[in-house]
Parts: sequence; structure tokens; C-alpha cells
Amino acid sequence: MQTTLVLFKPDALHRGLVGRLLARFEDKGLQIVGLRMLRMSPETAARHYAEHVGKPFYDGLVAFMTGSPIIALALRGPEAVAVVRRLMGRTFGIEAEPGTLRGDFGCSKSYNLLHGSDSPESAERELALFFPDGLEEWEPIQAPWFWDRD
Ligand code: RTP
Ligand code: MG
Repeated sequence: MQTTLVLFKPDALHRGLVGRLLARFEDKGLQIVGLRMLRMSPETAARHYAEHVGKPFYDGLVAFMTGSPIIALALRGPEAVAVVRRLMGRTFGIEAEPGTLRGDFGCSKSYNLLHGSDSPESAERELALFFPDGLEEWEPIQAPWFWDRD
């Protein structure tokens, strides 16, 4: 089992897509183990996007992400990191496959609705940033029906 970080970016909130996006993750069988609404501080943005410092899009990205509230989600499931990345689709809606969240809901290069951790190591680092007090441990009653147990 893996736990990964998803962010609903400001455009997802402004466009009223939170419920539909969240439903897609729940439909897939991912368990919510953390959920909070917050305004990303410039300090958190700098840490979260440390790998992008100095790139041409960095300043615009930080302005976008800190400009209005976001929702942070911790999602758990088998291979959750890769499962979430595949559900989201490629970075920009214009290139993302139909059927993916970015492919179905957008075609902007500046606004792409979601963030998902790109590796288990990134997930661990990013979850600590957004959920410093830890996650909620609970056993979904349907778990035996949507997760394999070995
Ligand atoms: P994310 O981190 O948000 O899940 O997206 P990603 O892995 O698919 O993309 P990444 O390369 O990590 O880029 C992080 C975010 O920066 C913005 N971006 N803009 N204009 C550009 O060329 C450009 N490149 C990246 C996007 O908001 C992207 O999600
Ligand atoms: Mg990324």
C-alpha cells in the first residue's frame, strides 16, 4: 500500500470541480486519509516546488498556487502514486488523454487542476509538508472488496 499527496489547485476550486474530481479518486478505490483546505504560503510553495526553482515558469507557478485556496488530500491504495498519476493524465490538459482528469477537464498550460506526487519518495516528503500532524488511520468497510490482500 502507498499513500500519496494530491493537491486540488486554485483553478479546480474556482471552477467548482472539487466534488467531481474527488469522486473520481473515490470511485477508483483510493482511501482518503487526509483532507484539508488551506492557502499555500510562499514558504511552503518554495519547499514543495524546490525542484523547479529557476525554471521559466516558476514565478508564475508560485503566484498561481499561493493566490487563492487549495485542497490537500492524502490518498491511500495499492500503488497509489502511479495510480493517481495515471488518473490525472499528462501535465497539460491539451496533451492529456481523454478519460484522465486533466484530459477531460482542461486545455490550459498554466492551469492544470491537480498535483500528484511523482514517486513514493516525493510523496513522503510532500505529505510531511501538508500533513505535519500525520494522517487518519482507519479501515474502510469495503476494503476487502476493492483491495487485494496477500
Ligand atoms: P504536478 O507536479 O503539478 O503534479 O505536475 P507534473 O508533475 O505533471 O509537472 P511538473 O513538471 O512537476 O511541473 C509542476 C507544475 O508546474 C507547472 N508547469 N508549467 N509552463 C510550463 O512549461 C510549465 N511546466 C510546468 C504546471 O502547473 C505543473 O503541474
Ligand atoms: Mg510534478
